[in-house]
Amino acid sequence: MAKELKSKEGYARYAAFYDKSAKYWDSFEKHNLDKLIEGAKGKKVLDAGAGTGRLAIRLHNAGAKVTALDLSPEMLSNIRRKKPAIEVVEGDMEAMPFEDSSFDMVFSSLAMVHLKKVDTFFEEVHRVLKDGGQAVLVNVHYRKPLILSDKQGKFIINCYNHFPRHVREAAEDLAFRIDKEIMVTEGDTIWISQILVMTK
Ligand SMILES: C[S@@+](CC[C@H](N)C(=O)[O-])C[C@H]1O[C@@H](n2cnc3c(N)ncnc32)[C@H](O)[C@@H]1O
Repeated sequence: MAKELKSKEGYARYAAFYDKSAKYWDSFEKHNLDKLIEGAKGKKVLDAGAGTGRLAIRLHNAGAKVTALDLSPEMLSNIRRKKPAIEVVEGDMEAMPFEDSSFDMVFSSLAMVHLKKVDTFFEEVHRVLKDGGQAVLVNVHYRKPLILSDKQGKFIINCYNHFPRHVREAAEDLAFRIDKEIMVTEGDTIWISQILVMTK
């Protein structure tokens, strides 16, 4: 049986082979972020729950000044190795170690699925964004738990599926303006992820 682990413990193990599934992770966005990443050029951008830098590195290469925040030092050490120019910060996206109004944009992909509720995270995104700043958030829905395996055995990292309506309502409650909501689907109907683009 796979052992169920909290994020910090789980990603400490997953960090060693997370990047092997890069194509799988990209499939939850299906190129919907390409233009938004290009648009981050010259901006001060936070990647919250940045992991091994899948988006942070693309943002950096597009000319953004990127800060990568993550709970897992093991995941972040991949960014340090691959792109030392990116600022990495170990910390919790529900209690971000940043001043108010620090960023022009906040990206966060595939990370809120690890939070029991999204409200506190959204409050933090709102707080650290400048007025008029934009947030780009990817809310993924895993239909079945991802069973991972390493030398220590099988494990699952704790996930919570958040319904798109609830995520949108949490954003609107904070008076974010929703600029765009993209549902990434498999076939015609099955929802796999929600991309919210919103402005403070
Ligand atoms: C599936 S990975 C996504 C990584 C990256 N954003 C990507 O799209 O490839 C989820 C990341 O969220 C991080 N994470 C989970 N809970 C977090 C929290 N409360 N604060 C900061 N990072 C968190 C994990 O450590 C992990 O690196």
